[in-house]
Amino acid sequence: MRSSCVLLAALLALAAYYVYIPLPRAVSDPWKLMLLDATFRSAQQMVGGPTQLESNLIHSLGLSHHLIALNFIIVSFGKKSARSSLTVKVTDTEFDGVEVRVFEGSPRPNEQLRRSVVYIHGGGWALASAKIEISYYDQLCTAMAEELNAVIVSIEYRLVPQVYFPEQIYDVIRATRYFLQPEVLDKYKVDPSRVGVSGDSAGGNLAAALGQQHPHEGELHSFTYIAGLKNKLKLQALIYPVLQALDFNTPSYQQNVNTPILPRHVMVKYWVDYFRGNYDFVQAMIVNNHTSLDVERAAALRARLNWTTLLPSSIRKNYKPVMQTTGDARIVQEIPQLLDAASSPLIADQEVLQDLPKTYILTCEHDVLRDDGIMYAKRLESAGVNVTLDHFEDGFHGCMIFTSWPTNFSVGIRTRDSYIKWLDQNL
Ligand SMILES: *[C@@H]1O[C@H](CO)[C@@H](O)[C@H](O)[C@H]1NC(C)=O
Ligand SMILES: *[C@@H]1O[C@H](CO)[C@@H](O)[C@H](O)[C@H]1NC(C)=O
Ligand SMILES: *[C@@H]1O[C@H](CO)[C@@H](O)[C@H](O)[C@H]1NC(C)=O
Ligand SMILES: *[C@@H]1O[C@H](CO)[C@@H](O)[C@H](O)[C@H]1NC(C)=O
Repeated sequence: MRSSCVLLAALLALAAYYVYIPLPRAVSDPWKLMLLDATFRSAQQMVGGPTQLESNLIHSLGLSHHLIALNFIIVSFGKKSARSSLTVKVTDTEFDGVEVRVFEGSPRPNEQLRRSVVYIHGGGWALASAKIEISYYDQLCTAMAEELNAVIVSIEYRLVPQVYFPEQIYDVIRATRYFLQPEVLDKYKVDPSRVGVSGDSAGGNLAAALGQQHPHEGELHSFTYIAGLKNKLKLQALIYPVLQALDFNTPSYQQNVNTPILPRHVMVKYWVDYFRGNYDFVQAMIVNNHTSLDVERAAALRARLNWTTLLPSSIRKNYKPVMQTTGDARIVQEIPQLLDAASSPLIADQEVLQDLPKTYILTCEHDVLRDDGIMYAKRLESAGVNVTLDHFEDGFHGCMIFTSWPTNFSVGIRTRDSYIKWLDQNL
């Protein structure tokens, strides 16, 4: 009896040691966040990094890449047994060869046509799903369709390692362009003047790129495809979006180096994976060696995300910019996509920004990406775009999808309600 008590205490202590991470007191439901983070970390450790690519687990599951294995675990973890709404009609189909899941809410009384949101899920361009069974994103889109009486098109774009940048963007463009055809909107009874685009995290990155419709250079010729898309989107709503790969030392990156669910080194690895780059560069990128003063174009582009002018002093606090005099020019030579505005919408030209529709940006205090969002809001505002910046002091990266038991967070519910309310008032 006594020895089993000791054993139990030891196990609990061990578990607590593993689960415990120092968290700011102000974060929502800290113990629950620690458990969620520990689950995520265990999943990552079980599948290993690329160095343990051949690990037994991956083999026994018949999965070929650590990201595929991690996604398998995350998607299984997120499955729910029943859909929360009976009034939303859900259909899986393809738009121009791209898989989508369409959620149709019932029209409001006295309305023939419905509002619509094209939704792009997050997950580092490599994880999660719009579709598989009933998952976090399925729940979010169901709630949106129901509460907004809208049609939500959730895009199942292809992920790393099946495809790399810019294929994810092309998938999103193809599906959106297909949906915006008059006969398709008509089929779904959607009001063509009330369609918005939205996404969270890496999905917010893709939504922002979709909105910008870059001038068409080099590899990105296919962007001409969406020339006709301009003025067709009424708004964009970006939830803790990833917006730049040039500065991994913004105040929020410095403040949240080890904050769950997205520590800085994990975010940098997602970038490297998105570009099919070399992990050997990660440490150098963390100290901004890829955009040092001696890396020609990079140094000039850094001026577009100069946070000593773009961020208010309450956010800058005492953090110091990290601008290396000499760095490593090989990084940008090998991964030129790092400096492409299609991957880093924050560095787009002013002329591109001024054409953007009304914008909502949600940011969280405990998130490396907080300042990406705040800086983008500032640049858009300066370009004359109507921007709502919705900041959550107790929010953490990814919180908006954690709304139902056992991963229900108070800030998850508040962010989702605030986001849907803004859509309701502006779409
Ligand atoms: C950054 O670049 C400098 C100059 O090339 C080099 O001395 C330093 O080791 C690099 N830092 C990292 C972490 O790679
Ligand atoms: C950012 O702005 C400050 C103040 O105007 C300036 O001193 C600094 O050189 C700028 N940094 C970059 C990277 O452009
Ligand atoms: C921005 O949009 C809000 C909400 O629709 C509106 O009240 C406000 O007047 C707009 N601001 C500008 C500068 O157009
Ligand atoms: C989570 O859900 C449980 C069960 O419905 C409830 O008791 C609890 O208060 C919720 N927690 C939060 C933070 O919403």
